[in-house]
Amino acid sequence: MSESLIDADIRQARTLPSRFYTEPEQFNRLKSVFSGWQFAAHSSELDAHTIQPLEHIEAINGESMILVQGDETRCMSNVCTHRGMRLALEPCTKKSLQCRYHGRTFNLDGSFRHMAEFEQVYNFPDEGDDLPQFPLKQWMGMFFTAQGEAMDLPWDMLEERLGFLNPESFTHDETRDRDHSVDANWLLYVDNFLEGFHIPYVHPELNQALDSSGYVTETFDGGVMQIGKAMKGDVKFELPTGHPDEGQDIAAYYLWLFPNMMFNFYPWGLSLNIVVPVSHNTCRVLYRGYVRDAELANEGAGSVLDTVEDQDQWVIEEVQRGMESSVYDRGRYSPTKEQGVHHFHRMLARFLTPQEP
Ligand code: FES
Ligand SMILES: [Fe+2]
Repeated sequence: MSESLIDADIRQARTLPSRFYTEPEQFNRLKSVFSGWQFAAHSSELDAHTIQPLEHIEAINGESMILVQGDETRCMSNVCTHRGMRLALEPCTKKSLQCRYHGRTFNLDGSFRHMAEFEQVYNFPDEGDDLPQFPLKQWMGMFFTAQGEAMDLPWDMLEERLGFLNPESFTHDETRDRDHSVDANWLLYVDNFLEGFHIPYVHPELNQALDSSGYVTETFDGGVMQIGKAMKGDVKFELPTGHPDEGQDIAAYYLWLFPNMMFNFYPWGLSLNIVVPVSHNTCRVLYRGYVRDAELANEGAGSVLDTVEDQDQWVIEEVQRGMESSVYDRGRYSPTKEQGVHHFHRMLARFLTPQEP
């Protein structure tokens, strides 16, 4: 079984071989991991538009999709059922969808409405002329969609942890949005996110806001939760009575959902990172900011985000170059600090076909 590529026992295990970071064939082999749940939008982004193309998902897995607000919110194909033109090219507030190629129109529920010069076509329209729909999951005010089969995630368990923040009430703040190109394989961005081990070495400013002795990593099916503890007197969450972490001084919840979504919850709100795979040695990272309390945004662990991102990008670009070495292949994991990276590599190994050890 290819799962044995990464030993289940972290003390025994070796890290993912360097070819997964450097070879185009391995990059292509892992593309199927992007067909499951993907973040589509936060509810605060839907208010302004009835039709919203999900450009970032198209960049991630090649599926052109739109989020549509009709009598309900739906996710459907953005490809015209006539000859394949992309339908919505930018967000809009229209009450129907008209293809710009030959004018076919669709209702906001995706059903075919009208097309000129098709009177003589037999059995037309049929259900193949409607826009195919994709699954849509709403979780704490965030919408997720999937291209193919999506693994079930412990949504309720996560909501028990984070629901007190009431993320559905957050508002999207465009000034916090960023789109960075990084000269590194997408796996390296995720690997780096999944451990706080590097914080004292790579992020001196962040290190001052976090109590590294209290850093906790929890793994679960489909993701990893890391909990950063606040330094004395620093900004922290006000946890309600009965919360699973009641009594602790928590500065940040860092949630990663397989394979490429990172939800960083701070007392001021949510910083979301989405990693877009581009090639075996480049990726893009999209940052979105959703604000809960703007006054807190300049304090504590979440206040030095741009600096932290620059430092992370610097280090993973250096690692990408290191991966090209002819004498480096695999390393070992720290059993106390790298459980998240090990868990991610185990999940990836499950996706790899058995032909290769
Ligand atoms: S491709 Fe859309 S109407 Fe022809
Ligand atoms: Fe980092």
